[in-house]
Amino acid sequence: MVKITVTDLAGKASAIEAEVGLSLMENIRNADFDDLAAVCGGCCSCCTCHVFVDSDDFERLPEMEEDEQYLLEDSDHFQTGASRLSCQIEVDDSLDGLKVTIAPE
Ligand code: FES
Repeated sequence: MVKITVTDLAGKASAIEAEVGLSLMENIRNADFDDLAAVCGGCCSCCTCHVFVDSDDFERLPEMEEDEQYLLEDSDHFQTGASRLSCQIEVDDSLDGLKVTIAPE
């Protein structure tokens, strides 16, 4: 388990115990955050699992694939150096302490 802090759309930050091997999206949904729709279930085709990664943490994540980047850049809320699709991030021990904010749809 690794600790990840998730801020919801209302600005409330909560620490969750994330399970290694699941995606960040799955972990956020398992922690009952209603703000993260994740409509496509993790197929990288909907952009409703968009999160903003804390600027200090962004470089800790693996680089995104082209399909993730295309989807994010189409979003009205895209932020360079912060936006990621949480379904494309597999949680491992290196992500302990990560901070993310759920993006508006
Ligand atoms: S859940 Fe659809 S792109 Fe992540």
